[in-house]
Amino acid sequence: MLSLSGVTKQIGGLTAVNNVDLTMSTGQIIGLVGPNGAGKTTLLNIISGMLSPTGGKVTFLNEDITGMSADRICRRGISKTFQIAESFPNLSAEQCVMIGVLFGNTRSPDMRDARAEALEILSFVNFPGEKAGTLTRNLNVVELKRLQLARALASHPKLLLLDELTTGLNPKESSEAVDLIRKIRDGGTSILIIEHVMSVIMGVSNRIVVLDHGEKIADGFPHDVVNNQRVIDTYLGDIDAF
Ligand SMILES: Nc1ncnc2c1ncn2[C@@H]1O[C@H](COP(=O)(O)OP(=O)(O)OP(=O)(O)O)[C@@H](O)[C@H]1O
Ligand SMILES: [Mg+2]
Repeated sequence: MLSLSGVTKQIGGLTAVNNVDLTMSTGQIIGLVGPNGAGKTTLLNIISGMLSPTGGKVTFLNEDITGMSADRICRRGISKTFQIAESFPNLSAEQCVMIGVLFGNTRSPDMRDARAEALEILSFVNFPGEKAGTLTRNLNVVELKRLQLARALASHPKLLLLDELTTGLNPKESSEAVDLIRKIRDGGTSILIIEHVMSVIMGVSNRIVVLDHGEKIADGFPHDVVNNQRVIDTYLGDIDAF
């Protein structure tokens, strides 16, 4: 489904992502982990078209999408949530999701259908129904996180990129998010997820990829990766992993 080969991003004098190869099959959940500043968000931004790589190639469903604009990549079936939950402050939650329904893929539903679908997606992500009409600047961080996920799902992605979706959630909310992530995968969407909470990553991932200083240092089954000495030395040793 997705293949990265030699993907590199230079930002000024810094190599934020360095020569990363990665492949992903349909129906998988891949966990992407690594220390702060490892290049995880930059890599997701490259896949989704928010950033162009300075080297390498990104292929999605047998098409070269390297450097393609984010809106075109979205219409081809990739959407993402953002590490910092933000939204259009003066639109309601429902309107934000409707934008994705209306413009995020090649279908063209009418406004009434788009609204009904937006409400359905908000309910799927457990967004409080009574706040669908609330301006997003009045939502709390948990509601903004749910809204982000709803917005990303609105385009009916084949591949969903999640950047720290559960950060800032309490254990109960986090476990609800994990259930939701599994439900999305069971519905046929593949998922690439960045997360610092190892119990979340271990619980959902078919495979774990580890970045450090922009380079991929491990890629394999969860059990093998967490027992990899280099991963323990560079990452797991430093965090309160479990
Ligand atoms: N726009 C930018 N300008 C300058 N440096 C940047 C920019 N974006 C990212 N970087 C740098 O690139 C490196 C990778 O950053 P990135 O945000 O991808 O890391 P990350 O793995 O997502 O970290 P975190 O776990 O803290 O979210 C960091 O050193 C960061 O400071
Ligand atoms: Mg990040």
